[in-house]
Amino acid sequence: MSASINPSILSADFVNFEAEFATISDCDQVHVDVMDNHFVPNLTFGLQMVASMQRITTKPLDVHLMITDADKFAIDYAKTGAYSVTVHHEACLDAVATAEKLRSHGAKAGLAIKPATNLEEILPVIRHFDRLLIMTVEPGFGGQLLIEDTLAKVAAARAHLDSHELAIDLQVDGGITAENIGRVAALGADSFVAGSAIFKATDRNLEISKLRDSANRHSH
Ligand code: DX5
Ligand code: ZN
Repeated sequence: MSASINPSILSADFVNFEAEFATISDCDQVHVDVMDNHFVPNLTFGLQMVASMQRITTKPLDVHLMITDADKFAIDYAKTGAYSVTVHHEACLDAVATAEKLRSHGAKAGLAIKPATNLEEILPVIRHFDRLLIMTVEPGFGGQLLIEDTLAKVAAARAHLDSHELAIDLQVDGGITAENIGRVAALGADSFVAGSAIFKATDRNLEISKLRDSANRHSH
């Protein structure tokens, strides 16, 4: 399976989304960071903006909810037609029930963990999800350096998914660049979120193809 490259529009110009989406037309999915200034110390946009994004792109939207009370709000994002909705383990009381609701509305269900959260906490429930997101930076901001310690979780997650024959998308988010993506792909990640690395490039589609090529060359 080819690596999925999902540009994070956190690094895009928020008042020009239509033009910005056009510059990343070769991507696999568009990663949409919803932040509430509570779960993370930053604020982006909410439901109405995500619904509007659906109207300006045919790309699947990979919605990453960095919000508290995710059990309550996630379903509304699925109803916008999002391809996938990822909630944080740290922000849910019953992530499995939320996953079931997301799937019943036609969305893939993702479960994310912050850098300080142990992988073991979520492995017992991961079979209920379509995507496992291992944060490789502290959620909240783009442009940070990848935290090396988080990569052990990528390798451990790969081993768990393989040994249990679980076809779940293993995603990484934060600090991914053309320099390190090969190394992360070799550890077993399938999909790669990149914000600043793509949006700061003069030719964003070229950067997407460089990232994808490198990931595929090193793929597990
Ligand atoms: C961080 C977000 C990321 C972020 C990645 O909270 O979840 O999606 O935009 O940005 P880069 O690739 O610049 O680290
Ligand atoms: Zn994200």
